[in-house]
Amino acid sequence: MNVLVAKTANDAERIAYTLIKERISGKHDFVLGLATGSTPVGMYQMFKQDALDCSHVTSVNLDEYIGLSPEHPQSYNRFMKDRLFDEVPFKQSHLPQGDAPDPQAEAARYEDLVRKLGVDLQLLGIGENGHIAFNEPGTALDAKTHVTELTESTREANRRFFDRLEDVPTHAITMGLDTIMNAREIVLVATGERKAEAVQHMIESVPTVDWPATILQAHPGVTVVLDGAAASRCA
Ligand code: F6R
Repeated sequence: MNVLVAKTANDAERIAYTLIKERISGKHDFVLGLATGSTPVGMYQMFKQDALDCSHVTSVNLDEYIGLSPEHPQSYNRFMKDRLFDEVPFKQSHLPQGDAPDPQAEAARYEDLVRKLGVDLQLLGIGENGHIAFNEPGTALDAKTHVTELTESTREANRRFFDRLEDVPTHAITMGLDTIMNAREIVLVATGERKAEAVQHMIESVPTVDWPATILQAHPGVTVVLDGAAASRCA
């Protein structure tokens, strides 16, 4: 694990963005794994400010809430359109379909798609409980794309995007830990004191299902970009 600690959150985002830009630029075809949540928003802003050419880039997102249509304002589909895709055209963009009639079949379809595409670089955030994508504590290390029940702490953490806690979906379709580990390269960004405990476990704990991000220690191409606050508990 290559761990970089920047002074501010903005510096961390700039470092991660620059790394992604370097990888994408000059390539013929590139498959980029994207995340939602607060962490990547500043980076997506940089894509837009730079008018980064992504016309040769196929994107695959990590996850989507079950029960929300792609047009729903809080769906990750909508999030990606609003924050990035409406201004930066990609060759193709894929997310799981949250309102698919058979979520298990949709998870299997998405797993197949991601495997066939082969992710060159996957961008990740991390949850306060150590989740990556929506692989909550206890998820099997060999999990493929699957339907998962969100923990109360994750629903609480994501409540800020919804009017009421009751509106936060209870389930999601998420790439599994094994799906993520299959990416050629991984860039995880974590900023803020709230992430410090999860970051400490990710870097320093023996790999355990209790802190799903610890699995990343076994990947040969991981760069972790932190700000000082997120790194504050690390030795
Ligand atoms: C989002 C995702 C999640 C988030 C994590 C951190 O697609 O898969 O794992 O990366 O919950 O969220 P933020 O960035 O909002 O703190």
